[in-house]
Amino acid sequence: MPTFSPTTPDRCPQPALASTWQALAGQAAHVEPLYQLFAAEPERAHACFAQCGPLALDYSRQPASDAVLGLLSQLAMDAQLHERLRALLDGAIINNTEQRAATHMALRANATDATEKRWAWADRIHRGEHRTANGHTITDVVNIGIGGSFLGPSLVVDALQSLSAIRGPRCHFLSNVDPQGLQALQDTLDPASTLWIISSKSFSTPETTLNAQAACAWMDAQAGKDWRKDRLVAVTSKADAARALGIMDEHIFPMDESIGGRYSIWSAVDLPAAIACGSDTLRALHAGARTMDQHALQEPPSDNIPMLMALLGIWNNNFLGRHALAIVPYDNRLRLFPDYLQQLVMESNGKRTQRDGSPVTCHTAPVLWGSIGSNGQHSFHQCLHQGTSVVPVEFLVPARGTPQAQHDCLVANALAQAHTLAFGSHSPLAAATDDPALKTHKHMPGNRPSSLLMYPQLNAEVLGALIALYEHKTFFESVIWNINAFDQWGVELGKRISQSVMPVLSGKEANLPEDLQASISYLHTLGSS
Ligand code: F6P
Repeated sequence: MPTFSPTTPDRCPQPALASTWQALAGQAAHVEPLYQLFAAEPERAHACFAQCGPLALDYSRQPASDAVLGLLSQLAMDAQLHERLRALLDGAIINNTEQRAATHMALRANATDATEKRWAWADRIHRGEHRTANGHTITDVVNIGIGGSFLGPSLVVDALQSLSAIRGPRCHFLSNVDPQGLQALQDTLDPASTLWIISSKSFSTPETTLNAQAACAWMDAQAGKDWRKDRLVAVTSKADAARALGIMDEHIFPMDESIGGRYSIWSAVDLPAAIACGSDTLRALHAGARTMDQHALQEPPSDNIPMLMALLGIWNNNFLGRHALAIVPYDNRLRLFPDYLQQLVMESNGKRTQRDGSPVTCHTAPVLWGSIGSNGQHSFHQCLHQGTSVVPVEFLVPARGTPQAQHDCLVANALAQAHTLAFGSHSPLAAATDDPALKTHKHMPGNRPSSLLMYPQLNAEVLGALIALYEHKTFFESVIWNINAFDQWGVELGKRISQSVMPVLSGKEANLPEDLQASISYLHTLGSS
């Protein structure tokens, strides 16, 4: 079988961590395969377990011995993870490049008057009590927004709307600037009973601005100018820009500059979710997140789920050279969760400079991807089992579901994947290969890390706890890497260059670099063929 040389551990990111980091690097040189770890530690299957409210983590299939787990706990203390999370909650200027606090956690700690007012307004629409100026109830809501102004609310609506006692209006999400998005929606909407939400903290994101202009032009033609006073609302920190579109003050739901887009589901960005699911759902979402916040702030590293997951992420990424992470929920309701986490993790921690501007010494955000199981088993799992890159996996598994037989099949598949990744051909359940010609083809190396996150059944509390869990995991990793998880300068340059390319596409002269000129001329040729 091919063998690959062991990876050299990354360099330590900060002096305070140096001695523990060095000890971990020593451990990385002789990591025992998982099947040997289980044999050597008879309690392992039961011991590597942590719980927070309805969520339980089984991390026994992570390649970390007792000694490594002890050192990872020490790393958490050296990096002062508890203290740094407390500082975040207390409003420290944690986002140093923009001189801002990050207040998403504080926002769910106590419901504010603004939150209660927004939820009361949303509830009237949710229950069908709100009437438009022409006496219609709202049947459809279109949220125009992208990034955090789309991923959070669409996740909550997709996961929870079907569970709410009253099924609120249909919710649609217009995010991509591709004109086909709006065109496809227009055929399904009644302009008289559709509410439009422009959700944009900056109110200047080009995709959102263009979609909003196109939607308003369509509605102006269908419903006359006055519809804007009645059925156009904004979620933004730039109230003046919203007013300029003719949006009434009582329909402008403010959000603070200190709420990052990828953390904004805790702000007024939740509006479409509150309308679709009702405020009880949002209250439960916040309650679930608060339970996880307290757990993250108080529990020691060895019992603290987000801290354990962050530390195991660091172990895999910085010491064992595994720079990707797959998220595989065996739960259809969580089918949008990998997309949501992609922004949370990769926009937060996809950084190459430390907080002081010096270059990082180690790998930062893993490449995060994934999709629901068991679908993935019939596409990318082959590569997880026998590919040459080892990708750690986080499985999400609900304990209950009906009908039982079908749910049992779902769970059996999830557990079998975790076991097979860990043990491969070393599993006592693996049959010996009878055909010698296929022996190597059928060999499963095993020793591939995964964790199981389990919960009774998906509901709003569980989803709130899951979102908060990954926020804290992401933050803890950023603290160890000494990077700022709350800015996103890397997306700016591409945005600016697209503004230079736009006029040239529509025929204006400009002096663009050669590669862009060539691509544009190919497109022009194809477009006129
Ligand atoms: O793409 C960068 C980004 O700034 C994200 O962080 C943000 O969620 C998204 O754009 C949308 O921003 P806005 O809410 O200001 O339109």
